[in-house]
Amino acid sequence: MPPPDEVALVGFAELSAPVVRARLLAAHDRFWDVDTRPLHHPVWFDQFGGFGTLARSAGGEDVGYLLGVVTADRLAYLHLLAVRDDRRRTGLGRRLVRRFDELAMDTGARVVQAVARPGNTAAVAFHTALGASAHLAQDRAGPGEDRLVLTRFLTR
Ligand SMILES: CC(C)(COP(=O)(O)OP(=O)(O)OC[C@H]1O[C@@H](n2cnc3c(N)ncnc32)[C@H](O)[C@@H]1OP(=O)(O)O)[C@@H](O)C(=O)NCCC(=O)NCCS
Repeated sequence: MPPPDEVALVGFAELSAPVVRARLLAAHDRFWDVDTRPLHHPVWFDQFGGFGTLARSAGGEDVGYLLGVVTADRLAYLHLLAVRDDRRRTGLGRRLVRRFDELAMDTGARVVQAVARPGNTAAVAFHTALGASAHLAQDRAGPGEDRLVLTRFLTR
C-alpha cells in the first residue's frame, strides 16, 4: 500500500477527459479564489488533452491539475495550473510543471509561458521560484485588466 498522502500524476490520455473536466468544475472553489470556469473550455481536455495532467491522491481524490499545449512555433503555453487548497506548498505544483516541461521538450519546445493576474502573489512567487521572468502586459485581458506574462527557458 502506498503512503496515505502519496500523489500520482496521470495524463488525461489515460482518463475520460469530459468526466475529469466535470469533476474539476464541480470542485472549482477548492482550487481557485476567482472564477476561472470559462477558462476550462472542453478543447483543453479533448483536443489539447495530451498535455493535460491530473494529480490524484492515493484515495482517488483530484488534488491538482495542469492544462497546456505546445504551439506551432514550439512555445509551451501553460494555460492553467492549480493545486487543491489543502495540498499547497508540498511540491505538487512543481511536479505538475516538471511533467509538462518534459512533454513540451519532447515536442521541441524550449520556452514555456504562463499568464497570471498581478495580484496573484502565490502564482507569481511560484513561477519566479521556478526561474521565470515576469513582463507586465497592460490591458491584456481587457481594459484595465493587466496580466503578468511569466517566461522561462526549458532545460533538462
Ligand atoms: C500557484 C500554485 C499552483 C502553487 O502550487 P504549490 O503546489 O503550492 O507549489 P509548490 O509547493 O510546488 O511550490 C514550489 C515553490 O513555489 C514557491 N511558492 C509556491 N507557493 C507560494 C506562495 N503562496 N508564496 C510564496 N512562494 C510560493 C515557493 O518557492 C515553493 O517552494 P518552497 O515551498 O520549497 O518554498 C498554488 O498556489 C495554486 O493552486 N494556487 C491557486 C490557483 C492559481 O492561482 N494558479 C496559478 C495560475 S498561473
